[in-house]
Amino acid sequence: MTDSLTITRPDDWHLHFRDGEFLAQTVPATAAVFARAIVMPNLAPPVVNVEQAAQYRERILAQVPASTAFQPLMTLYLTEGTSPEDIAAAAESGIVFGCKLYPAGATTHSDSGVRDPARIRHLYEALERHDLPLLVHGEVTDSDIDIFDRERVFIDRYLAAIRRDFPALRIVFEHVTTREGVQFVQDSGERTAATVTPQHLMLNRNDLLVGGIRPHNYCLPVLKRAEHQRSIQQTVLEGHPRFFLGTDSAPHSRDAKETACGCAGCYSAPAALPLYAEFFEANGALEQLEGFASHYGADFYGLPRNRETVTLERQSWRIPETIDGGGTTIVPWQAGRELHWATR
Ligand code: NCD
Ligand code: ZN
Repeated sequence: MTDSLTITRPDDWHLHFRDGEFLAQTVPATAAVFARAIVMPNLAPPVVNVEQAAQYRERILAQVPASTAFQPLMTLYLTEGTSPEDIAAAAESGIVFGCKLYPAGATTHSDSGVRDPARIRHLYEALERHDLPLLVHGEVTDSDIDIFDRERVFIDRYLAAIRRDFPALRIVFEHVTTREGVQFVQDSGERTAATVTPQHLMLNRNDLLVGGIRPHNYCLPVLKRAEHQRSIQQTVLEGHPRFFLGTDSAPHSRDAKETACGCAGCYSAPAALPLYAEFFEANGALEQLEGFASHYGADFYGLPRNRETVTLERQSWRIPETIDGGGTTIVPWQAGRELHWATR
């Protein structure tokens, strides 16, 4: 049995740092393990231009511990008011690495999102021309579409056409949750990839709803049936190079999660790498961890792989029951769970 595993230092290709008091918790938690992270722009109000991204980046950098060389990779939030010039400026900025499409109403702070993703073709065209990746929250929001079908319908209604009409556009299908999503990415060639969260690898909707409702397993897109989980697991365990680590770590205060109408999002950052390691080891594929966590995402984004390493050691510890989010209490994802890998 391996007792120590040294891999290229990983990156997190989908992360919510939040802002303000949260940053003192979230930034050091990620910077302790990850070299870089794609920082989601769904603040309130959202990050919609380079100037705001630069200011947000400075607030993040102010919380990076001096002992790490962590780099935040910023993103812009596409709105109906975004212009091709905004995208050109982002591509030239050197600090923005993607633009995020949130269908309006799909998730936390998505009110400013795009109501009709078929009507921003000028933005897809600009992203393609400047080779800036389009990061997609792939769910429709129509009230008549069942929440468990929203990813599949988004692919059929919008994404397949975007893929066909903008062949050079790099598209990241964020937090893939369904067999149809996995299939779409597999079939769509070199310029389509997906991020995979720990919760969608390790859980299915039974873990949300059986034996009592588990608000800390509630995220969007919502957990799906076991057969969908198996499809995500299978492609990752086979080492498919266009499926890579994106935690979607998304803290909310305990009050906002444990309530009659709880927020979506799992705060997984403090234990993310050990959680993924447990998943790979439990499935006899620990050798696939490094590609998934440290190589494939950088390759897809056209960035150099990290040169530093991180070492996982076999050591038991428990994820804390609560974490201080700078004045608010956060319940981390999988609170209280015993893990068998620790990073140093
Ligand atoms: C995210 C959040 O809270 O910002 N929530 C979530 O459930 N994943 C938003 C998102 O990525 O959808
Ligand atoms: Zn997210």
